[in-house]
Amino acid sequence: MGRLGWIAGVFSLLAMAAAAEAPQGGGAERRAGEHRAGEIMRDLRADLLAGRDVRPLEGQAQQVADWAARLPALFPPGSDTGETNALANVWTDRPGFGQAALALGEPARRLAAAARAGDRGGFADAYRATADACGACHRKFRRH
Ligand code: HEC
Repeated sequence: MGRLGWIAGVFSLLAMAAAAEAPQGGGAERRAGEHRAGEIMRDLRADLLAGRDVRPLEGQAQQVADWAARLPALFPPGSDTGETNALANVWTDRPGFGQAALALGEPARRLAAAARAGDRGGFADAYRATADACGACHRKFRRH
């Protein structure tokens, strides 16, 4: 085999490896994202209960809002294999799943806005709505 043939072979091997790993990679990234969202929600709750100023929490709230917008893309077609607690309807009911992600984005943006305004009451309300949106999607689209 000439040098070019060898390079072409390496490239096609790499392409195959990338294709084989794509679903797994997607699953790991999305679980890391869900895990991070869980940590943020726990932190925010602790700050809220401790009566701390909500202003410094804007960044974390905004992270949840940004993540909500990316959520459907973290569950690409074909990533329903391997280790996952996602139910099959994540992929068969894309509109419903997208709707559940949008339903998280809205209160999460309100959460960030309330933090920016230093509005504790608004922050507490939006926090509850945000947590409800997490739970609503989990009840419908996640194995318990
Ligand atoms: C649009 C649907 C949806 C929304 C909204 C959502 N999740 Fe999830 N979440 C899932 C699905 C599906 C899984 C299972 C993913 C898997 O196992 O591949 C999951 C898994 C998790 C996990 C377990 C991760 C792990 O390590 O296996 C945590 C923690 C979590 N979500 C927290 C949250 C929090 C906190 C929020 C709200 C801020 C949230 N989720 C919003 C769909 C959602």
